[in-house]
Amino acid sequence: MSLTVAIDGPAAAGKGTISKAVAAHFGFSHLDTGLLYRAVGRRTLQGLNPVEAAQTLTAEELEQGDLRTAEIAQAASKVAVVPEVRAALVDFQRAFARRAGGAVLDGRDIGTVICPNADIKLFVTASAEVRAERRFLELEAKGAEVTRDQVLTDVRERDARDSERSAAPMKAADDAILLDTSDLSIEAALAKAIEIIEKVRPTNP
Ligand code: CDP
Repeated sequence: MSLTVAIDGPAAAGKGTISKAVAAHFGFSHLDTGLLYRAVGRRTLQGLNPVEAAQTLTAEELEQGDLRTAEIAQAASKVAVVPEVRAALVDFQRAFARRAGGAVLDGRDIGTVICPNADIKLFVTASAEVRAERRFLELEAKGAEVTRDQVLTDVRERDARDSERSAAPMKAADDAILLDTSDLSIEAALAKAIEIIEKVRPTNP
């Protein structure tokens, strides 16, 4: 069987944590598609052209160094507006989605563009303030020198760029189930996601 779960949503809404835990719970493979854009963004910070960077990206690069910095997040959202960059990353994501045993992909356009026929689509969201606070604590724990205000500005800027771009803008698919995690602990959000997937998942796929 190849069951595909698409989990989209804005920055720091909790989709990464939920996706990872859902994959572990059901035994599915997990792809954080944000890492693809982050790896391309990092290459542009090193001076490479974004389209060339996307076309020559290797899976190994996703494992190298820390891609989850604020600087790379900004660079990622800038390369993500370029249609040729997005196009270069489509095949890899679609092949991953068809993995035997099931796959969870999280990003911005999984339910709308990459896997419009996904078996289950979730759109995970939360208020910008709650998301910024979560991301601030994450970055602070890693020793990054950032302020709450900087992180909130970063989150808002990326939200605007991600939802206003013309190539695959971030939005919930018409058939996505909305999961607002503003007032939920991570455990509660995960329990909800699992409950939703259990309901939709074919019992004998
Ligand atoms: O973890 P966080 O939600 O902050 O970001 P991410 O998922 O790692 O994505 C980083 C950036 O990549 C986003 O701000 C988007 O601009 C871009 N992205 C995208 O355009 N499409 C995706 N499927 C995933 C990420």
